[in-house]
Amino acid sequence: MVAVEAVWGASPGAMAVGVVGGAGVVLRLGVLASGRGTNLQAILDACARGDLPASVAVVVSDRADAQALERARRAGVPAIFVDPRGRKKADFEAEISRILREHGVELVCLAGYMRVLGRTFLREWEGRVLNIHPSLLPAFPGLEAQRQAWDYGVKVSGCTVHFVVPEVDAGPIILQAAVPVLGDDTPESLAARILEQEHRIYVEAIRLYAEGRLRIEGRRVVILPPGEPRVRPEHLPPRQP
Ligand code: GRF
Repeated sequence: MVAVEAVWGASPGAMAVGVVGGAGVVLRLGVLASGRGTNLQAILDACARGDLPASVAVVVSDRADAQALERARRAGVPAIFVDPRGRKKADFEAEISRILREHGVELVCLAGYMRVLGRTFLREWEGRVLNIHPSLLPAFPGLEAQRQAWDYGVKVSGCTVHFVVPEVDAGPIILQAAVPVLGDDTPESLAARILEQEHRIYVEAIRLYAEGRLRIEGRRVVILPPGEPRVRPEHLPPRQP
């Protein structure tokens, strides 16, 4: 096992994350989702096609009726509902964290997960949680980003994959895709075109992570060129709480 610290950059604020996706080395993903799960589906499909050196180890939802759970079951992936009602956020998130550890998860992907993760959870999984957001951050963080963009009248919007930090939609940006806002767009038609790009760049960002090609330098994520192994191909253990 490579100690997590061993792969962090020598300078403070710089760390390489991810592992090299060498032959037979598959990154284990845990996906948190609250809703319909089309981003989850894009990830599942990419894994099934062999396009991604990754596999979805578990899907966790805070909603029993999330379509994402059904998609996971159909793909033969453990689908677990964790009930947030009537309990402290810290206990709820500790249970999610335990489930992720039990399933050997190395990277957590938020895919339409509608809760803000707490600091304790994010400390444990620091540098190992990604999110997809349907705007070009830092514009239009928060809910209904596509509608916010349409209401504002921007001519270009898009989507962003970023590392998750405690502040909402504020973590270092990995990839973005721009989507033009057309004259006859509605918030719904804009959202549909953005969603197509979400599916593409989320898979691409996970691939970069799996290949050990992401280096966080302060606010900036540097994408390293392909080819050279940078981190020993052992999987990184989650940090202990
Ligand atoms: C997506 O628009 C994503 O950007 C946002 O929540 C939505 C989830 O959609 N964070 P789906 O559940 O993946 O279809």
